[in-house]
Amino acid sequence: MKILEIHGGKKLSGTIRISGAKNASVALIPAAILADSEVTICNVPEITDTDALTEILQYLGADVKRASESILINPQTIENKEIPEELSVKLRASYYFMAALLGKYKYVEMYFPGGCSIGARPIDQTLKSFRALGASIEEKDNHYKIYAEELVGAHIYLDMPSVGATINAMLASVKAKGETIIENAAKEPEVVSVATFLNGMGAKITGAGTSEIKIKGVEKLQGCYTEVIPDRIEAGTYIIAGALVGENLKIDNIIPEHVEMLILKLKEMGVHMEVGPDYVVVSKTEDLKPVKIKTQGYPGFATDLQQPITPLLTQCLGISTLEETIYENRFKNVPYLNEMGANIEIDDRTIKVSGKTELVGKRVEATDLRAGACLVLAGLLANGVTTITNIEHVLRGYENIVQKLEDVGADITLKEEN
Ligand code: EPU
Repeated sequence: MKILEIHGGKKLSGTIRISGAKNASVALIPAAILADSEVTICNVPEITDTDALTEILQYLGADVKRASESILINPQTIENKEIPEELSVKLRASYYFMAALLGKYKYVEMYFPGGCSIGARPIDQTLKSFRALGASIEEKDNHYKIYAEELVGAHIYLDMPSVGATINAMLASVKAKGETIIENAAKEPEVVSVATFLNGMGAKITGAGTSEIKIKGVEKLQGCYTEVIPDRIEAGTYIIAGALVGENLKIDNIIPEHVEMLILKLKEMGVHMEVGPDYVVVSKTEDLKPVKIKTQGYPGFATDLQQPITPLLTQCLGISTLEETIYENRFKNVPYLNEMGANIEIDDRTIKVSGKTELVGKRVEATDLRAGACLVLAGLLANGVTTITNIEHVLRGYENIVQKLEDVGADITLKEEN
């Protein structure tokens, strides 16, 4: 097991450069197989989630080359065979292969995807989209066999604006016959990213970034080049680090609009910040005001930032509330923060954070990716030593986190423990 040891209380200053977005990359890599020739995806973060998808591509027989920040994928040699369970359970995004293989070959066999344990996370909206396009689904013990004589454009209404289901519906319908309309689509920048990539291949998708996406099916898609957008959740995590322990900490290579909901919330708290065209400079501010936060789909407050912002709420003077509306079980970080000295009560889907409280270093566990990020931030602030176990969760989603934090002054070490 990998553990992270942080000696807290160090001021962070200098520049952190944000990597390509995990949640865009993990959709673009499976989407690449829809092309009939080589695809280049630039600015792909080196994290274990992108490694796991590369492994699936190689298992299917694609020619994959990693050249510094780029991945070159030639899907011409792919053999459409069943993806084994041990590969699909490594991450949530493996189910983008379900849609991409169905869209290309009209046949796919694979297992239920993995992902952080933060709620039920069913895939019913994805399966509903496949059925609407004319596919039949045989499901047994987490195994799915999905096939269609032909895929025909359909009117799909998503019961909730799911990122995964929206992307899957696009991937499955991009080569279908006729027009598909996805209503109540997710508006996240990662959805726009996938649509832009597919359009670069020759697809005809309009409306991505709004709640109605239209897709006119095409027969062929050719290879193209795309660049992954900056990771808005990584950016948000380090902006919060700056608010906790920064001294003119610059978070560079970001799209400020993608983190606007966070910036506005931090301003409401009174955090000192300078927002530039592609950067934010942020410093620790005393006497922060408490706030109310409710997670929502984009452009609302991102669920992926609610755990990372919690340590900052412990530093506000008074009671802050945070309501999680997307996942049922995304407060596993809270008991550990309380052990570190926070005063947080959980009431169903809402937490009440009473501040300001001092945090002290403890041995804590990263139960999932963003819970881990939360504890890293708490550790940077806390007095003494914080040891975070199961840090593998964090390495799934944050490229070079240890190096990036060390470079701006953190005392942080990655260790192996038996
Ligand atoms: N949902 C259903 N049925 C479905 C799909 C979703 O009930 O068929 C529910 C989920 O259970 C959840 C909600 O709808 O309660 C939202 O799920 P969504 O499908 O939007 O999430 P996702 O596609 O599984 C992606 C990110 C998550 C991020 C969410 C929301 C990837 C690989 N994952 O998940 O990222 O929290 O969108 O923005 O893109 C993370 O990076 O830590 C992470 C969990």
